[in-house]
Amino acid sequence: MADKSNASSRWLDLLWVLFLVGLAFLPPNNEPHKLIILAIIGVFQLLERRVIPAAPIRGRYYVVLIKLGLATILINHTQDVAINSSYYPIFYLPVMTAAMYFGPMGTLLWTSLASAAYCSYLFPVQAVGVPRWLARLMGSGSESAVFTINAAGISELAMRMLFFFLVGMIVNRFVMEYRNQVRRYQELTETLSETNRSLKQAQAEARRAERLAALGQLSAGLAHEIRNPLGVIKGSAEILMQKLAASEVLAKELAGYIYTEVNRLSALVSRFLDFARPSRLALEARDLTAVLEKAVKAVADQGATTNVVIERNYAPGLPQVMIDEELCEQVFTNLVLNACQAMGESGGTLRIRLKPENQLRTTVIAEIEDTGPGIAPDMKEQIFNPFVTTKKFGVGLGLAIVSKIVDAHGGSVQVVSTPGHPGACFRVSLPASRERGAEPSSS
Ligand SMILES: Nc1ncnc2c1ncn2[C@@H]1O[C@H](COP(=O)(O)OP(=O)(O)O)[C@@H](O)[C@H]1O
Ligand SMILES: [Mg+2]
Repeated sequence: MADKSNASSRWLDLLWVLFLVGLAFLPPNNEPHKLIILAIIGVFQLLERRVIPAAPIRGRYYVVLIKLGLATILINHTQDVAINSSYYPIFYLPVMTAAMYFGPMGTLLWTSLASAAYCSYLFPVQAVGVPRWLARLMGSGSESAVFTINAAGISELAMRMLFFFLVGMIVNRFVMEYRNQVRRYQELTETLSETNRSLKQAQAEARRAERLAALGQLSAGLAHEIRNPLGVIKGSAEILMQKLAASEVLAKELAGYIYTEVNRLSALVSRFLDFARPSRLALEARDLTAVLEKAVKAVADQGATTNVVIERNYAPGLPQVMIDEELCEQVFTNLVLNACQAMGESGGTLRIRLKPENQLRTTVIAEIEDTGPGIAPDMKEQIFNPFVTTKKFGVGLGLAIVSKIVDAHGGSVQVVSTPGHPGACFRVSLPASRERGAEPSSS
């Protein structure tokens, strides 16, 4: 792309040089000022592309002003009576440049200024107090400064100036049209890349759901098979413990071990079955605020929120959500517990936010953010897998269960990172109820 535009601008530069060389060879010949000004115009034209990006706002004023000055001086050096110069179309240069960089009003103003500069040659003033070189450059005080102008001359002049305006406005319209088009394309590109991003996200989430479903199926079978023998072992150990006489201390202790460990295993299997069992949802329109508060209370009851400051930010007038209240409470209990555990003994700030996703309020977003160590980018997807844990006594099922429940609700859960914020933030989106319970019932 850049190569192409570079090549075409080099072509344009070459055309400019050819154009100026052409002008240089046309009469009046032997006029050094004319050649110098043409050379300056050429150099300036080539520099323009650097000036504009360097100072986009002020640069365009300078560029048009300088071109206007150069054009005015040029026609003075191409004819004894400047107003008669056939070089007057050089004024198209500042006019078209203004049309390219300014809006319609700006173009009109600049074109008026160009016309005024052109007309200034109708009034050959005797320069007073002006350095002689400047006076000569401007042509003031030259012997041929006095002339007469008739009606035909005036209409010719008016015609030329009208054409300045015509060209200025036409070019400006094209440029404005072009700019609009570019803006539209840019907006389209942004929308497209936004769509692309959400598509990728949806794909990733679909993959996660598939993975969890497959794992769930496999492990449900396994857990089920393990549970029955575990029950038998547990019962046997219990009876053994009761029957063993006080004399057989060692045997009793061992039976005790068997009993407690089997208990732990069966608790694990039960939790695993919770994860693996297909969730059957009892959906009802509910206020998510209440569910979140229950979850926070459940975690606080476990004593995990000591040293944790809780900041709540619930958007007003939130729509209700279609959820299975019990399962969703489990979701937020897991997330809040994880957040508190991540912040550890020293505690921190737990921020809980509730807001609608967009103006349409079709989705409600809950965010649980902590000030803990955060989650490494390569772990952001992994932690949702079962048995991924970094905790000494962790099981690694919490987030897998969260993901599964949220998926079953047709929602999504993801780890979002806020720039400059080290902690973790989990964002859960849940579909809003169509009844719009919490909203004023005006519609
Ligand atoms: N808020 C958090 N901040 C940092 N790491 C977290 C957070 N929540 C979860 N994690 C990471 O994800 C892992 C999996 O979490 P989870 O599935 O709930 O299992 P568990 O809590 O049993 O370890 C955790 O061990 C921890 O490393
Ligand atoms: Mg957990």
